[in-house]
Amino acid sequence: MIKELLEDAKKNAQKNAVSIWRGDLTTLDCDAIVNAANSTLLGGGGVDGAIHRAAGSELLHECADLHGCTTGAAKITFGYSLPASYVIHTVGPIYNADGDIAAQRLELASCYQSSLDLAYKHHLHSIAFPAISTGAYGYPVEEAARIALLTCTAWLNAHPDYGMNIILTCFNSAVLNAYQAIIAAAQKGELE
Ligand code: APR
Repeated sequence: MIKELLEDAKKNAQKNAVSIWRGDLTTLDCDAIVNAANSTLLGGGGVDGAIHRAAGSELLHECADLHGCTTGAAKITFGYSLPASYVIHTVGPIYNADGDIAAQRLELASCYQSSLDLAYKHHLHSIAFPAISTGAYGYPVEEAARIALLTCTAWLNAHPDYGMNIILTCFNSAVLNAYQAIIAAAQKGELE
């Protein structure tokens, strides 16, 4: 499955792209960066804290007017002092190994889908994601990376002529290694 999606995405490479990048996404000068927020949208730690610190207090003021966000949904604000023009805030699932794994998988996929749909609605053409839910929310990195890559490549293949540059950012080697392993396996046809 992912192999075909990656091949299709490559065919549209002149318009669409998905790449893996190691670093701090608050430094990226793209149309939008995605925040792995919580449902209050009033800031937190991790990438949420980093984005709010880099954006400045105006971001919190705009977020306060959004009245929160449900898991899997996405809302957009300006980027203020960030290099990125916009921040798309999404709320990932809190991983629960004893819970409904299929539902959590769908919620995480929805974070990527909703963020991409919102970027499309606002005519944006470059978007950087953190590895949503893999920090404080405890989602297993390998599975989260697989969901991210599958959802993003499927979105690109559903919008072949749009021209969206998706950057999947890795803030640590575990996430980087997970993405690289999935892409390598897909290219060898070892993933369905
Ligand atoms: N740039 C890119 N990625 C980052 C950055 C950064 N500056 N800072 C952290 N990350 C990565 C983490 O290493 C992790 O892989 O973002 C991923 C998501 O981790 P968290 O930020 O902890 O987000 P999440 O697991 O979705 O938990 C969300 O944590 O910060 C709170 O308010 C937030 O309650 C919410 C919860």
